[in-house]
Formats: sequence, structure tokens, C-alpha cells
Amino acid sequence: MAYTEASQRKLEETLKKDPKDITILALESSCDETAAAIVRGGRDVISNCVYSQIEMHSEYGGVVPELASRQHILTMGPMVEAALKEAGLAFKDIDAIAVTCGPGLVGSLLIGVQYAKGLALALSLPLLGVNHIEGHICSNLISHKELEPPFLCLIVSGGHSHIAMVEDYGVMTILGKTRDDAAGEAFDKIGRLLGLGYPGGPHLEKHATDGDPSAFAFPRGMKKSEGYDMTFSGLKTAVINTLHKARQAGETIKTEDVAASFQAAVVETLLEKTFAAVNDLKAAKLAVCGGVSANSLLRGQANIHAKECGISLYFPEMKYCGDNAAMIGCAGHYMLLRRATSSLNLNAYPSLKLGQKADE
Ligand code: KG4
Ligand code: ZN
Repeated sequence: MAYTEASQRKLEETLKKDPKDITILALESSCDETAAAIVRGGRDVISNCVYSQIEMHSEYGGVVPELASRQHILTMGPMVEAALKEAGLAFKDIDAIAVTCGPGLVGSLLIGVQYAKGLALALSLPLLGVNHIEGHICSNLISHKELEPPFLCLIVSGGHSHIAMVEDYGVMTILGKTRDDAAGEAFDKIGRLLGLGYPGGPHLEKHATDGDPSAFAFPRGMKKSEGYDMTFSGLKTAVINTLHKARQAGETIKTEDVAASFQAAVVETLLEKTFAAVNDLKAAKLAVCGGVSANSLLRGQANIHAKECGISLYFPEMKYCGDNAAMIGCAGHYMLLRRATSSLNLNAYPSLKLGQKADE
């Protein structure tokens, strides 16, 4: 049941349409990107506007939540206008509003959620509260129109590292996850330690290009343990200790070598566990998503393993690896089809888990 009679009527009308014609305006503001997109039929991105706050936060070496929220307030309106303009559409052409409602920074999430609620109420449109991690999974549905569940998925972002079985749209089983830092978080922390720019991932990758990945034998956490959980805290400590010891001994070590050895350890840890799951479950398809899926070593190594196992491998296009609203629109589309709409009590859920529905 949608939240008003008018929005319920609109939902019923929309569900009578050919799903290919359903047009969703989606908003994303869970961290430091303010984004709006228009998605038709779940997988056709009509417009995709992303405002990155990286420049503002890089001065501090990481996201400052208060600044992020304030910037979202300033930028969300212009992003929505830009998304409509780029699509050549008006509000009357929109069938539903989708918005990230968690997980993420509470202040940042609230801006998108409140904006979406305001729009939905003013336009009498169904509202869809989308799980951000589910959004990342959907980025591959946009980039690969033929991809359908079931598929195995490695989700690697700044806040999450999960191996999950996507059984159907919106139906996921978590097989493994990080016990401590997310893969992207580890990249960011080591990047900061090495004095590279923010966010650490892309900068570290660039430096790693000129380094020797076997210069340091950093640990591959939980490699021999059963199951598909991962850990990156031991790796982080090993890098810190290596730098510390070198400094105490007055030795200089090449930043590029540390970056390359660290990156090799992260990629090996992720793929070791992921391909163990591929083999155990006899999965035929593997999709990788999230900010870290932009990493070329991860892409290259995953490709080699996938060829060896004879499975199909999917990565999103670069523009859909990081945070964007198109992936939220795609997830919202499949929620709409299964009538999983939200009420106006929709809140921000900073710790929302994968597969968990927003608690309204
Ligand atoms: O998915 P995302 O944009 O935001 C979250 O939902 O967290 O992921 C951002 C993360 C950051 O930690 C960033 O350093 C990492 O993705 N990242 C990368 C690369 N590009 C972005 N990590 C490794 N290599 C990259 N090329
Ligand atoms: Zn994300």
C-alpha cells in the first residue's frame, strides 16, 4: 500500500504499463556524492548526474560528515534539475521516486530521503527506499542488459566487502563479509598513511603501477580459514609496521613498492574467497561491483580466474563503479515491480544491512 490514495492510484496505473516504459527519478546522497538519475525500464539510463565532493573533503584526508550534509543540501536540487534537463523530461513524466535510505552517513542520507519524500508527496508518486549495497549490485544490471539472477556477487566499496548470492531481484544471501575494514576503507587508510591523495584507492593504484608487488610479503588474512569471511586489519597493521621499522632504521622504502605489495594482497584476498565460493556453489556467473571494482588489478586477475573456471564475469562500466543514482533507480525499478514501496515514515538507516528492508 502506497502512502496516500493518490500515490496508490499512480502505483496501480504504473504497474499496468509495459515495465520497459516505467520511468524512475532516483536520488543518492549516502556519502560524498550528490547524485540524481532518470532510469527507464530498470536498465536504461536516460540521465545520470553526479556531483562529487572529493575536492572539498581531500583537504581533510577523508569525508567530514557535517560538511558532506551541508553540501548535499546545496547540490541535490541542482542535480535533480540537471537530471531532468539532460533527459529532456519534466516531473510529469516520472512514475516513482527512488532514494538511498541506508547504509551511509546519517546526515547525508537524511538530505536525500527528505528531498525524495518532499518530491513524492508534492507529485503524488510512489516512494522507494533503496538499500545502497543493493544499488551497487544493480550497477551490473545496467552495464550488462543480459545479466539476470541468479549470480554470485563480490561487493567491494568504501564501506562494504561482501560475497553474496543474488538469487533473484531483491533476494540475496550473504555468504561472507569482512570481519573488520572494507576493502576500499583499507585502500583509503593505507593511501593516507603513504601520503597519497584522497580517496586512497585510485591514487594508490596509480602509484602501484611503478612498484614491485613482491617487494613485501604482506599477509593474506584468513586465507586458510573455512568460509568466505575476509579480514584486512592484519594487512593494515603489517603495512604500518613495515613503514615504522623502516623509519626507525633510517631506511627509505619505495612508496610504489608498498602500494603494489598492498594492492596485490587485497586483490588476492578478495579473489581467493570469491573463487572458493564460485567453485563450492558451482556458480556460472560472477559480478563484481562497488568503488573498488574500478581497480585494474582486480579486474585483470578476476578475468584470469574466471577464464580458468569457465564462468561469465561482469564488471560495471567505470561510471557506475562509484556512487551514482542510476544504480539506485535500477534497484528501485525492481522494488516497484514487487510493490515494495515505502511510506512517508521512511527514515535514514545508517547501518542497514544487505538484504534488510528499511524499518519503517
Ligand atoms: O562505492 P563507493 O564509491 O562508495 C561506497 O559506497 O563506499 O566506493 C568508494 C571506495 C573508496 O574507498 C575508494 O578508495 C575505492 O572505492 N576506490 C578504489 C578505486 N577507485 C575507488 N579502490 C581501489 N582501486 C581503485 N581504482
Ligand atoms: Zn557506494
